Amino acid sequence: MKFFVDTANLEEIREANDMGVLDGVTTNPSLVKKEGNIDFHEHVFTICEIVDGDVSAEVTATEFDGMMEEARSLAQIADNVVVKIPLIKEGIKALKACDEEGIRTNCTLCFSPTQALVAAKAGADYISPFIGRIDDISSNGMELIEEICQIYDNYGFETEVLAASIRHPTHVKRAALAGADVATMPFDTMMKLLNHPLTDRGLERFLDDWKEYEASRKAEA
Ligand code: E4P
Repeated sequence: MKFFVDTANLEEIREANDMGVLDGVTTNPSLVKKEGNIDFHEHVFTICEIVDGDVSAEVTATEFDGMMEEARSLAQIADNVVVKIPLIKEGIKALKACDEEGIRTNCTLCFSPTQALVAAKAGADYISPFIGRIDDISSNGMELIEEICQIYDNYGFETEVLAASIRHPTHVKRAALAGADVATMPFDTMMKLLNHPLTDRGLERFLDDWKEYEASRKAEA
């Protein structure tokens, strides 16, 4: 499973990248807004320089021509830019046109298996089903991941399932069990993947015992 960090914050991206297990970054207009007064294209360029992996940058136009204009301009920033396109009718047309022009895409805001099926037929490189937002309305986000994985397997689609809107490590575990290709998660969720109280307690005991061992060796010398 590939790990993407879902943020536009450069410090978080650098820290996640330094761990050595980061495969990419996803951004969206809301995450960009959080970073304040930045130049979007320059910011995407900087992220692409930091990370040796796919970096999703989203279009904000909602009609075909505008989407294509933005897609072409975003794709020129760097080879690892993936253009994020919303799952609406005009977006499907844009996915198809991008595919024909060799522009890689991440189809975003997916909330149903049939949406995912159409996006794959249009040639999306990634599909982003939003788990957490489905859970937020008392429905089952993970079921959506499972169903999309099964549908894509049934027909041999190459579109990668990018589990998005992840809220906690259990979402990551279950997406991995379901066979999602990628999990994109907030930086703090990525850090939480490592946590276990028994690891902390075990390490504390090992270090205490080591100190005692060294002290007794010194006393006997
Ligand atoms: C995906 O690419 C989106 O940026 C993101 O996962 C949305 O997550 P949210 O529902 O926490 O905003």
